[in-house]
Amino acid sequence: MKLMKKFTAILLILVMVLSLSACAAKTDDKTSTDLPTIGVTIYKYDDNFMSFVRRAIDSFAKDKAKLEMTDSQNSQATQNDQVDAMISKGAKSLAINLVDPQAASTIIDKAKAAKLPVVFFNKEPDAAVLASYDKAWYVGTTSSESGVIQGEVIVNAWKAHPEWDRNGDGVMSYVLLKGEPGHPDAEARTKYSVDTIVAAGIKVEELELQTGMWDSVKGKEIMDSWVAKHGDAIEMVICNNDGMALGAIQSLNAAGYFEGDKFMPVVGVDAIPDALEQIKDGKMVGTVLNDAKNQGKATFDLAYNVAMGKDPLDGTEWTLDDSKAVRVPYVAVTIDNIEFAEEAYK
Ligand code: BGC
Repeated sequence: MKLMKKFTAILLILVMVLSLSACAAKTDDKTSTDLPTIGVTIYKYDDNFMSFVRRAIDSFAKDKAKLEMTDSQNSQATQNDQVDAMISKGAKSLAINLVDPQAASTIIDKAKAAKLPVVFFNKEPDAAVLASYDKAWYVGTTSSESGVIQGEVIVNAWKAHPEWDRNGDGVMSYVLLKGEPGHPDAEARTKYSVDTIVAAGIKVEELELQTGMWDSVKGKEIMDSWVAKHGDAIEMVICNNDGMALGAIQSLNAAGYFEGDKFMPVVGVDAIPDALEQIKDGKMVGTVLNDAKNQGKATFDLAYNVAMGKDPLDGTEWTLDDSKAVRVPYVAVTIDNIEFAEEAYK
């Protein structure tokens, strides 16, 4: 009998402890459902640079908002469906990394119908489309700036290394790995990097130009074929982003470059950690910091403010230009200021 009583007492305590912890869990639930939901799409998770922007958005959202974040898997149709689902799940604002920069109006139509504010980021919509909805903004960069800065990095390095003009003809024979055609960053980088080199009085010859779609594996494959075709006639490898530059370096490594005095100058854009390692190893001349952390922060700050019904810039240090865009500056990165770039990606 005594034993039975003891057993019942223990059972009672157990029940009490269990229901108390259930209560505690419920309270937690309550606070998290009190946070505003923000719908976030990433054009594809499988993008080197976007993985850092994504990480930044996630960390700045901590304890402030519930993110409904999805991988649009490089399909605009998928992204459109995801946006519909976010709206029906009660998102208070949208942060959209378009798959197709031309699809901004489709997203705006959906946001307008639901009276929801929308912050586009990384792929800039046409100014007219952004202007067509008073609750639409953009967070990114001034695309042309990255091309100009990349061009300056190339000019400085080329002038410091006359031996890079291997055939001594006074012409820089370059190959260019382009990002996604139609992407404002890819178009502007391709144009302005070369324009800047030419404006500095350096003669150029384009041996090859092809899209590697921002992708490392594609960059390597294309570089393999260019090295096989042109070999040492290539005197400069210009890449619209570091992902493709890393692919090109892999290809050049396999072809025996970066050993002894066999060298090939490669430049990129982004300053992702793997690229910084290549700069430190002397295999990459330089890159341009595309500030993933601050672009992620600005995207979250604006999307959060508008989700709370506040002014998009409330309590922030960001500014909007005439086209309702926050533009985070690019910075040249070489071995001389590598620590600064490492800091920016932490
Ligand atoms: C980055 C690329 C990235 C692209 C995605 C660009 O700003 O430099 O690395 O692939 O955005 O849209």
